[in-house]
Amino acid sequence: MIQLHDKQFVPFITAAEIDAALLRMAKQTEADLTGEVPVFIGVLNGSFMVVADFAKHYTGPCEVSFVKMASYEGTESTGSVKELIGLSQNLEGRSVVVIEDIVDTGHTIEALKKIFEVHKVKQLKIATLFFKPLAYTKDIALDYIGFEIPDKFIVGYGLDYNGLGRNLPQVYQLKE
Ligand code: IMP
Ligand code: MG
Repeated sequence: MIQLHDKQFVPFITAAEIDAALLRMAKQTEADLTGEVPVFIGVLNGSFMVVADFAKHYTGPCEVSFVKMASYEGTESTGSVKELIGLSQNLEGRSVVVIEDIVDTGHTIEALKKIFEVHKVKQLKIATLFFKPLAYTKDIALDYIGFEIPDKFIVGYGLDYNGLGRNLPQVYQLKE
């Protein structure tokens, strides 16, 4: 068990399980994007570890970039998605794969999808290591999912609780 600020967390998903999921996701992406040079776009801060390990499993030619779009404070989604920063590249005609740490309500993914449509991308795929189907309020299909998880707060492997826990190599779940 670990403590971050005022809350306790219990081990939930191991580093080895995460790596196996990312390998599977990378191979699925590779099979779908044969002949393309995709642009992987990680959504900061949470996705920094996901993108690094996903990209190591992707053996084809690709580009890697990051954007930032914070929508979260504490353990509950604010529902208000702020604007996107860091997109400097021309993405017109490109195959873009947005890489998320976690899709919760789907507000972030919905906003990102709208932005990439404006940029006239050739195709947009969405990859997320974690997905909370019971919290999801959108009907946007997710292309590559690592784990479907219960609607409980998790930390580690890039995910934080009020700034702490991102450096943990495995994932922990909020203790009841
Ligand atoms: P959404 O817009 O509600 O889908 O939320 C997406 C963002 O909320 C993620 O990229 C995370 O930054 C954050 N988030 C959602 N659930 C969790 C969680 O269980 N732990 C930590 N952050 C979370
Ligand atoms: Mg995030």
